[in-house]
Amino acid sequence: MSLIEIKNLFFEYKEGIKVLKNINLFLSKSEVVAIIGQNGSGKTTLVKHFNGLLRPTKGEIIINDETTIKKSVAELSHTCGYVFQNPDDQIFNSVVEDEVAFGPTNMGIKGIELKVRVDEALKTVGLFEEKKKHPLDLDLNQKKLVAIASIVAMNPELIILDEPTTGQDHAGLIKVETLINELRKTHTVVIISHDMNLVARVADRVIMMCNGEIIFDGSPKEAFTKNDLMKKTYLKPPIITELAQSIKGFRKDILTVDEFMEELIRLRKNKK
Ligand SMILES: Nc1ncnc2c1ncn2[C@@H]1O[C@H](COP(=O)(O)OP(=O)(O)OP(=O)(O)O)[C@@H](O)[C@H]1O
Ligand SMILES: [Mg+2]
Repeated sequence: MSLIEIKNLFFEYKEGIKVLKNINLFLSKSEVVAIIGQNGSGKTTLVKHFNGLLRPTKGEIIINDETTIKKSVAELSHTCGYVFQNPDDQIFNSVVEDEVAFGPTNMGIKGIELKVRVDEALKTVGLFEEKKKHPLDLDLNQKKLVAIASIVAMNPELIILDEPTTGQDHAGLIKVETLINELRKTHTVVIISHDMNLVARVADRVIMMCNGEIIFDGSPKEAFTKNDLMKKTYLKPPIITELAQSIKGFRKDILTVDEFMEELIRLRKNKK
């Protein structure tokens, strides 16, 4: 079932400079989609159209079979929750739990239901103990998690995470991956990421952008075997994929260490 349909989208910040060029896209419910591409390729600009933070210069965004032209950001945010690339652009309250309560409060949720939503969202990201703190007293990783909790508390159908692992240490990376795997059970998830290991592990589908255009849309396995396209967007596949691709006779679409080991065992058996 279609959640978002984008038809012939063009976008310019400044007149005459096209940042998005004829984007056509169809997002189904319950998939984890990774948008990848070099810096400045238009990833953030594209997803900001999903909740109306940006409006097309030309073209149309359809959500749940309805055009979004006349819908406000507040309305669209009920369906498409965007977690900003930089949490400082999103967070403005002086207490963590107030920040997380802001979205659901604006949706008209109050009382015990509001409290439950805020507490559950903070537990989901592992920040329940920090709920009385000032967001400025948290480190970048934690601020990113507050930003995610604020969106989770609104319970939108689609959750968009814009570079959730940038600047995270190993523990932070594991936390974000676990979180995505938790969210995928109940939500459609879009992640924008430069971390190809994460993309390989969590994405059902990869959309590759270059200079404001979609140049590839398919599975992670296909994406990481398109060496010419990967080079064009200055991306490198996960190390384990590169290693497999460098070994004669190995499958070229290995994404994980487990797959690598299976392939190794298969080849050994064949040799005997
Ligand atoms: N507010 C803005 N005003 C004018 N130009 C902008 C603005 N935001 C982004 N751009 C330009 O639009 C293009 C696409 O930027 P965008 O932030 O969407 O890229 P991105 O793929 O998200 O990059 P990154 O990986 O660095 O986050 C870039 O050339 C960028 O300089
Ligand atoms: Mg960006």
